[in-house]
Amino acid sequence: MQKPRIVAGNWKMNLRLQAGIHLADEIVRGNRPEDVQCILAPPFIHLPLIARKLEQHGIGLAAQNCYEYSTGPYTGEISPDMLQSAGVAYVIVGHSERRLHFQESNALLYRKSLAVFEAGLIPIFCCGEPLEVRQQGKEKAFVEQQLEESLFPLSAEYLSQIIIAYEPVWAIGTGHVASPDQAQEMHVFIRDKIRSRIGDASAAVLPILYGGSVKPDNASGLFAMEDINGALVGGASLVAKDFLEIMASFPNS
Ligand code: 13P
Repeated sequence: MQKPRIVAGNWKMNLRLQAGIHLADEIVRGNRPEDVQCILAPPFIHLPLIARKLEQHGIGLAAQNCYEYSTGPYTGEISPDMLQSAGVAYVIVGHSERRLHFQESNALLYRKSLAVFEAGLIPIFCCGEPLEVRQQGKEKAFVEQQLEESLFPLSAEYLSQIIIAYEPVWAIGTGHVASPDQAQEMHVFIRDKIRSRIGDASAAVLPILYGGSVKPDNASGLFAMEDINGALVGGASLVAKDFLEIMASFPNS
């Protein structure tokens, strides 16, 4: 089976509505390689309008977060079921900014991942270590705990459909991209861990994306690595030209 190639743009809390629609338009009209799945993750309020723009263009739509229940008295929250009804197919779960600023725990992120699957959507599950953990050489144990506590309780059937994004916290928004070797080493580690739960064949095609200061000038080095199946892009996804260039950075297949 062909290995997946995915480039997802996490717009974070950026762009007023009209600017978001304009950016989505530019990406729809842009030159995108056919063998690369493009996913856009705009803010919640952009989702229904952008869903309409993306129709029939083969671009996936993701939310950046969701709540763990499907309906109820949870003022201000958005459920996976509501997202599904708005044309969303993916949800970013466990971004380090949510872990840091909103105290999202591994246990909560298990419940959110399960809720996302139960609504018929696919989680883009983020993991990755902070700088001090890498400086102590404990990054693998840290990521292993994130996977064990948030993903291992999921059924093998669900787990084999997930998208994982390895995003070392020290590389996010800093310009300090992980080297291709550093990222590859962690991706192999993640794939091995998940293999023990879903078996060889599914693990071989599990999409594991790298995130953290991915730019047009460093994407091809990352995408040349065996276990890096694409990228979750922050800042560079806000500029259509850069995002399209990243999508065009995979080796010839
Ligand atoms: P940057 O690409 O801006 O470093 O952000 C990465 C990220 O957090 C994607 O989710």
